[in-house]
Amino acid sequence: MADVKLVAMTKKFGDIVAVNDMNLEIKDKEFFILLGPTGAGKTTTLRLISGLEKPDNGEIFLDNTKVNDFSPAVRDVALVFQYYTLYPHYTVRQNLEFPLKSNIRKTPKKDIDRIIEKVSKILHIEHLLDRKTINLSGGEMQRVAIGRAIVRRPRVFLMDEPLSNLDAKLREEMRAELARLHLDLGSTFFYVTHDQVEAMSMGDRIGVLDEGVMKQIGTPDEVYNRPKNMFVAKFVGSPAINILESEIAGKKLVIGIRERAMECSLTDLQCKLVGTAKSKAVFLGIRPEDIIVSKEKKEINSFECSIYFKQSMGVEDILNLKVTDDIIFKAIAPPRLMANVGDRLYATFLMDRAHIFDAETEERLEKPK
Ligand SMILES: Nc1ncnc2c1ncn2[C@@H]1O[C@H](COP(=O)(O)OP(=O)(O)OP(=O)(O)O)[C@@H](O)[C@H]1O
Ligand SMILES: [Mg+2]
Repeated sequence: MADVKLVAMTKKFGDIVAVNDMNLEIKDKEFFILLGPTGAGKTTTLRLISGLEKPDNGEIFLDNTKVNDFSPAVRDVALVFQYYTLYPHYTVRQNLEFPLKSNIRKTPKKDIDRIIEKVSKILHIEHLLDRKTINLSGGEMQRVAIGRAIVRRPRVFLMDEPLSNLDAKLREEMRAELARLHLDLGSTFFYVTHDQVEAMSMGDRIGVLDEGVMKQIGTPDEVYNRPKNMFVAKFVGSPAINILESEIAGKKLVIGIRERAMECSLTDLQCKLVGTAKSKAVFLGIRPEDIIVSKEKKEINSFECSIYFKQSMGVEDILNLKVTDDIIFKAIAPPRLMANVGDRLYATFLMDRAHIFDAETEERLEKPK
């Protein structure tokens, strides 16, 4: 059992509110991801949970026990950092043995050997056990660092961007291995990253943090398909969602304030959400994959545009499409469309997939629950 509960947790450094009134419940065995840009307060959150930092306000519970006054060692959580904190001149085996030989855990020698054998098998580092860590590759070192965290079977793993120093290919491999490790160990993972691909592909749930404030907590599907606000919509997804300044006029959405070049029909649901307001300033959020590009005009919500930039990604093309100087957006198109820069095409907005954000609050218009 190892659930984590944060109640109104706040941490300030002088004038900076690094973590602002955070409320969060993480279930036992969950793989929770804290996602946010640099400076959002992710590392501070981990340090607060581990006990390396004390909150100014709020309570921290591990398994329903309030741990605010407990030292890091008693909390029994393991931290894995972005930069491997290994002893460079010791062997991998010695690095792994170290946490087991601490004063708190005086593990018998034969148990140590058994644990190290098991952990090194899980992480595929058996062949490295007698090598000095200074000579290992980045990926190997990161595995050893994770190994050092798991040898003593902590209640909760706190991982602070453990893969950000690895090259793209290794990062992808390690993502899969960490996900598998989570299943094998059956422990609670609290994983910090600023990489939204990592968050989407690994987590059971994601918390999106900005300037110390939790902007949304949800499954990858919820965060991607039902973002609560414009920050979350923009932060999750690559290529990023298109945000277009617009105005509601009756049952229509007029995109582009100055030239009014595009008029979309709102769905019935969207009309209801907007209510009776005759006109309202909003932002339209539409993901590149929800804009269909074709050589023929479609019946509704279809606009003539020209390609002004094209990125070929192999499996798909990302087209930057321009309607007027003011209205430019990205769409994903299959390479078989054979479209090139300068070509004129039609872009059709799938309005039932679009999000409408209040221009003032930047919250998504949503049916009240
Ligand atoms: N010990 C400290 N003293 C003063 N300010 C700090 C301290 N630690 C963090 N901060 C500030 O608190 C804010 C949050 O920092 P934190 O390290 O938690 O961000 P982060 O989300 O981990 O960012 P990154 O992705 O860059 O690692 C930042 O503005 C940072 O400058
Ligand atoms: Mg950090």
